[in-house]
Amino acid sequence: MEIKSSDRINRRTAHFLAQQQNHIQRLNDQGIKVINLGRGNPDLPTSPNIVEKLNEESLNPKNHGYPPYGGKESLKIEIINFYLKEYGVHLQRDEVTIFNGSLAALTALPMILVNPNEVILSPDPAFFGYQNGAYMAGGKVYRMELTAKNRYLPDLKQIPADIRKKAKLMFLNYPHNPTGAGATSDFFENVVHFAEKNEIVVAHDFAYSDISFGKKAPSFLATRNAKTVGVEIYTLSKTFNMAGWRIAFAVGNRKVIKLLKQYVQSSLGGTFGAIQDAASFALKTQDMERANLKQTYLTRRNVALSILKEAKIEVLPSAGTFFLWVKLPLDSADDIEFAKKLLEKKHIAVVAGSTFGSKGRGYLRVSLVSSTTVIKEGMTRLVDFIKNSYN
Ligand SMILES: Cc1ncc(COP(=O)(O)O)c(C=O)c1O
Repeated sequence: MEIKSSDRINRRTAHFLAQQQNHIQRLNDQGIKVINLGRGNPDLPTSPNIVEKLNEESLNPKNHGYPPYGGKESLKIEIINFYLKEYGVHLQRDEVTIFNGSLAALTALPMILVNPNEVILSPDPAFFGYQNGAYMAGGKVYRMELTAKNRYLPDLKQIPADIRKKAKLMFLNYPHNPTGAGATSDFFENVVHFAEKNEIVVAHDFAYSDISFGKKAPSFLATRNAKTVGVEIYTLSKTFNMAGWRIAFAVGNRKVIKLLKQYVQSSLGGTFGAIQDAASFALKTQDMERANLKQTYLTRRNVALSILKEAKIEVLPSAGTFFLWVKLPLDSADDIEFAKKLLEKKHIAVVAGSTFGSKGRGYLRVSLVSSTTVIKEGMTRLVDFIKNSYN
């Protein structure tokens, strides 16, 4: 019997990264060590005291049964306290729900809000999860261009009237993967007006909330009336080095939160109670660790930026995230070919900008989840290769 995959799964965008992973494996098999500046997986371990909390709570038999679908009340209370302390945002318990990782929440949103052939607005370039989630729900995607000219903030006026009518959901993400750009509170205010006027739900992906340099990254929910139009998705993956734990939450609009809970109940189930207890502990106790982590990424960013700037390579001085958005010297540069050759010849992995959408063409995403020594070596080889390829 020939097993056929569905159109939904075929439409996902994962080709570049899957091919790159195979390429890295082939090089490793030949004994070649690759410097991986492509991945988005934090390199540092979770704080030992969070791990200890998990160990302790895993012994509690109360955690051995099915967890409550929307999450433990104790975790919801910590989330409410955290949002008030960090962002001055007041939340009620029915405005919070727990997810096993933010990717699951981002994929759930089109499923609960969008019917086949309705439209989802997603930035270009953007994290692959929005587009894949939209396809899984049978929705159509309209890409909002992010360019250096518009400071990587979508120009909402450019969205055509017929698209606005069909659009049910808009994804945003600041600090932004892959460019590292930040949003302003003014921009978020415009988004709320636009969403109210056009009846579009906003989902702000706040994955890099804490990794912001200079000004603290604003929460979308701190914008006036934001709760009437949308939700924010917060993950512990990056801020707390807990990517493998799969713990995140959605906060904001009560109706959307209710629908998300229904989705969890009918598909994902809940998250292991001991992980939820460890997450409560993390939200409550890690102010110093979070500040140190931010400083670590800032140091790495500055090391990489100074090497690129000295070589006169165009790069956005990131407002946040652990990524740098590096422009290849020619507008017409084929970033996919370049990234493949860079890996083959210099053994450096970076992600080609086009992977994130057509507006990423001619760019590379360099990630800073390695030590400064490794970053220095990787950036030096990258700069050499750019110079040799384009001079
Ligand atoms: C912008 C963005 N959103 C969401 C995620 C997914 O995070 P999680 O580990 O919570 O699924 C990532 C992971 O790389 C990301 O970069």
